[in-house]
Amino acid sequence: MIPFIDLAAQQARLKPRIDAAIQRVLAHGHYVMGPEVRAFEDQLAAFGRAKHALSCGNGTDAIALPLMAWEIGPGDAVFCPSFTFAATPEVIAWTGATPVFVDVLADTYNLDPNDLEAAIAAVRAKGALRPAAVIAVDLFGQPADYPRLAEICRRHGMKLVADSAQGFGCTLAGEHPVNWADAATTSFFPAKPLGGYGDGGAVLTDDGVLTERMDSLRVHGKMTKSDVNGHKLSCDPKYFNMRIGMNSRLDTLQAAILIEKLGIFAEEIALRQSVAQRYTDGLAGHVGATPKIIDGGVSVWAQYVIEHRDRDGLAAHLKTLGVPTAVYYPVPMHRQAPYACFPISPGGLPVSEAKASRVLALPMHAYLTEDVQDHIIEAVRGYNG
Ligand SMILES: Cc1ncc(COP(=O)(O)O)c(C=O)c1O
Repeated sequence: MIPFIDLAAQQARLKPRIDAAIQRVLAHGHYVMGPEVRAFEDQLAAFGRAKHALSCGNGTDAIALPLMAWEIGPGDAVFCPSFTFAATPEVIAWTGATPVFVDVLADTYNLDPNDLEAAIAAVRAKGALRPAAVIAVDLFGQPADYPRLAEICRRHGMKLVADSAQGFGCTLAGEHPVNWADAATTSFFPAKPLGGYGDGGAVLTDDGVLTERMDSLRVHGKMTKSDVNGHKLSCDPKYFNMRIGMNSRLDTLQAAILIEKLGIFAEEIALRQSVAQRYTDGLAGHVGATPKIIDGGVSVWAQYVIEHRDRDGLAAHLKTLGVPTAVYYPVPMHRQAPYACFPISPGGLPVSEAKASRVLALPMHAYLTEDVQDHIIEAVRGYNG
């Protein structure tokens, strides 16, 4: 079977550097919050053109941290797409706020700004919840329509989070999502475009006050410099807990590995563009839809997703030819039992529901060779279902 994501090809390329980085951590022994963590955060902020980057345990906590720092909670409405991974609405529910599911655009699969406006108006009309924030998702690696989403959030006094777990490195008009969002979050889950060798995540922001508060929250609400504010303390400030937080840190070993991976990430993003373009050239007209990227956008191609009216038949056919596929996502979040009780846009979520039955992700990574890709393209074109 062809690998769906070939992590071994990248490892072969980086192995001496990663081995050396791991050995350096083993030699100094600062396994938690060691020097590589700060170094990686600085490099990540520079790459994502943000003033600050704060690492944490995974991409789910990364979304939770800004929401917690803003004290979003019961009585607040947080708008997000239903056509996403569970982590997006999950963290909203953790805080006690109410996720409100909004539909996505039929071509880019990202949050539909018009539907968002309708959902905000409906929440306001009902009067039970305060519209507090929007979480946009850079689904499959491409940026959401941030200029419009940011304008809507500004007008309504709401915070904007970019859940860029799949999209870190994507740009719109040359800018990263954090150019518009109050906070942009990502995941270093191994299969992500910038993935480590275990769990990890980060939040990027230009807001120093937010960063300090999230730094406290990721270590059990520890006292920050601003909290100390000249007070004489009887013990180490880290043993004063100023807010209820969590334990969510990026391991030093992961940071050391990610520094090496970040060093080739821009080149890998470029390689992913060529792979995606070859798929599109080979498949356009042979499947229901090939991906459409927002004008001025650059995707990092976490996934290459096509549509097909007989998606399951096509997947079974490809499997017989050694081509693995995946379905992201077969059931939209508002149709999942724990989330079915939460409000949705007044017009329903017809696009999210239709896409869930048609989408199919093909093998995608920076090291997909032309031979293998030709085999995949031929296999898809050969399906007559
Ligand atoms: C859109 C989205 N948000 C959040 C996450 C959560 O990231 P993690 O698995 O690192 O917690 C993921 C990971 O799959 C994701 O795809």
